[in-house]
Amino acid sequence: MKQDIESELLALSRQLLEAISAGDWPTYVRLCDPGMTAIEPEAPAQIVRGLDFHKFYFDLPRSPGARQTTLTQPVVHLAGDLAVVAYVRLVQKLEDGRPKTVASAETRVWRRQGDAWRHVHFQRSPLQGA
Ligand code: GLY
Repeated sequence: MKQDIESELLALSRQLLEAISAGDWPTYVRLCDPGMTAIEPEAPAQIVRGLDFHKFYFDLPRSPGARQTTLTQPVVHLAGDLAVVAYVRLVQKLEDGRPKTVASAETRVWRRQGDAWRHVHFQRSPLQGA
């Protein structure tokens, strides 16, 4: 049972990252609580509340070329209707025609709302590039 929930939360986290990578706003909105809070480098020294701030990036043109997202070293902590998923996110992409990997440490909090888990908070910190 606990393992099933952890697998579900990892699958949801992967789905979220794929939605971000693909610019899939409807999927992102479906997975996130409208009042989600965020601490990330795009909003220096701020805690962002809600989804509008994030939509700006989904509305930008997609950068061309191959892109792959990998979630590594995942850990899941479950506490009733709350769950914390932490991992290192690797994004492989092309920059000036050369492969580049960008690494970030992410902590994402999910809350069960009825039958579904919704994403309610995250913190992302850049790590040294590979
Ligand atoms: N910057 C949007 C997200 O990581 O969820």
